[in-house]
Amino acid sequence: MPIHRRQYIYPIAPPTDIYGVTKPRSWCPEKLSKTDVTITFQPIGRRVRIDRAGTVLEASRTAGINIRNVCGGKGICGKCRVIVKDGNIDFSIPKGEELLSDEELSRGYVLACQTRCLSDCEVLIPPESRIEGQQILSKAQIFKVEPNPSVSREYLDPKFLSRATTDVDLEAKISGFLRSRYSGRGEVIFSALISSRLKELSGQFGRGLTLTARKKADSIELVDLELGDRSSRSFGLGVDIGTTKIVAYLVNLVTGEILDVASDYNRQLMYGEDVVSRIGFTVDEVNGTKEVQEAAVNTVNQLIRTLAQGSQVQPREIIDVTVAGNTVMSYLFAGMDSAPLLQVNAFVPKHSIKMESKMLGVDVNPWAMVHFLPCVSRFLGGDAVGDILLSGMHESQDISLLIDIGTNAEVILGSQGWLLSTSAAAGPAFEGWGIKFGTRSVEGAIERIKIDPETLEASYTLIGSAKPKGICGSGLIDAMAEMFRVGILDSFGKIRGNLPRPYVRKGSDGVEYVVSPAQKTSIGQDIVITQKDVDILMDSKASACGAISVLIKKMRLTVEDIKNVYVCGAFGSFLDLNSAVAIGLLPEFTIDRWLRLHVPCKRFDQEAPSTLGSRRKSSCRHGHGGRPGAPGKKHHTWVRRLTHRHRT
Ligand code: FES
Repeated sequence: MPIHRRQYIYPIAPPTDIYGVTKPRSWCPEKLSKTDVTITFQPIGRRVRIDRAGTVLEASRTAGINIRNVCGGKGICGKCRVIVKDGNIDFSIPKGEELLSDEELSRGYVLACQTRCLSDCEVLIPPESRIEGQQILSKAQIFKVEPNPSVSREYLDPKFLSRATTDVDLEAKISGFLRSRYSGRGEVIFSALISSRLKELSGQFGRGLTLTARKKADSIELVDLELGDRSSRSFGLGVDIGTTKIVAYLVNLVTGEILDVASDYNRQLMYGEDVVSRIGFTVDEVNGTKEVQEAAVNTVNQLIRTLAQGSQVQPREIIDVTVAGNTVMSYLFAGMDSAPLLQVNAFVPKHSIKMESKMLGVDVNPWAMVHFLPCVSRFLGGDAVGDILLSGMHESQDISLLIDIGTNAEVILGSQGWLLSTSAAAGPAFEGWGIKFGTRSVEGAIERIKIDPETLEASYTLIGSAKPKGICGSGLIDAMAEMFRVGILDSFGKIRGNLPRPYVRKGSDGVEYVVSPAQKTSIGQDIVITQKDVDILMDSKASACGAISVLIKKMRLTVEDIKNVYVCGAFGSFLDLNSAVAIGLLPEFTIDRWLRLHVPCKRFDQEAPSTLGSRRKSSCRHGHGGRPGAPGKKHHTWVRRLTHRHRT
């Protein structure tokens, strides 16, 4: 029974008067005597002081604790569940929402974003609400590139420097050297600061001098001077700013070698798990943009410290930074106003943003430039541009398809000379939002599922060693494919409710399939997939495959015309291609055409001998082919593999 009215819950025995009547809210003595309260978060035991009547979610942000908050604290998603073990609170569920069952309420569950603390409180964060142990790519398939940084270091030996007789002469000699080194560039710029530093160092040139120069379109700017030969100590940083996580690569700019990779959650998760919630925070809160920007920058700075420590590199030796992210992430990291991106026809400049690291607060050489890969539109950001560059599809004679499945499915079709792109909202379900036991790829998430066709019992693999607490995107796709394979799902995506097996049953939300019984889970409940979940997943997959279909149709191509298919993004990396094809999320391509752009090496090796190859090849041979230049029959086959009844 949903609760629509404001109510007060006292997790410890509520105070009553002599007649046993619960005392009103004004009973709370702390409310009258204290201006702030202490919140203790368990099981980590972290304490934080906040203003009285602040929410538990605000307290967690102050404490730097990540609690799931998909909707950013609007009381819509129901993911910020916590249990208040002790203390007085003011809790209400937004009208019309059924986010907590009566049973959960009786167990002390509340929503962190809707719970105000009226006294010191002890709050338990249950496993399903913790953001921890996210499966993060630590190794990626990166093609070796020739480094061409905008900032580089050059060494001048003492002999060269001794030829200059005056300061002016020295500047002229350095200018001449840099011009000859970077032929075609015009003026060499010495700022007042650099000129005075040069004067300061003259007379100490016994070990030579290292120049740090920034190449511009028509000039060269000298940005740093150091004594001795530091020219081999040139490092760069590549940063992938994802909505959930940030991955940073430390690169030797002399050799092009990737020295190390580090990743962590994007601390912006505290302000909402999706981009719209984060934009909302920047709009609603004074200094919201700054707060959200600093959260991402702090994450990057932590990664820089980790990388620098592990590779014996000084952060000051990092002299160039490149950042790629979706459009909203790029705007937020740059500290730009992202609110216009909520408009349908928002103008997105196509040029690359460049900023000095010190302006952003990134802890590298203060003169280092931070380059943002250009964004194409609201939904096609620098990350997609980076994927294109990495794949090389824009230089290939063959037609390629690039698919990045995340919260949005971004699809790019093209070859040398032309590229066509589109994006579709696909992600909430694949990110675990809206699915009863959906979760992100965190510790305890079910990521692979197989179903015994006889007993219909599921076996699964988990991320980490914890007990299951939910199903992540790749697990959900596996589950759908397996349910379809063993006959639990019919071809219209309906769970067959008449199966004589205990794993398919009628639950509170209609027919459901039990993936893991309560005694095996860490949340004390059966983990199930309901008909509603399947319907939502069907919508998500329809959205993604629709985007692919639109592009192929638009260019009057068939799947046979496409020679390379690149699957990118974290979700794409962990996706089982067989399952994705089985449910019609992705078209059937022969195995030799699939390429994953970001793949942990282990998985890539394991995947190569997949059964996908032979099955796909034979199905191609036997008659689905279409003629080039017209939409093929094969195209319709994959789109309709598993589809809603009303769409057939
Ligand atoms: S309901 Fe609390 S964050 Fe969404």
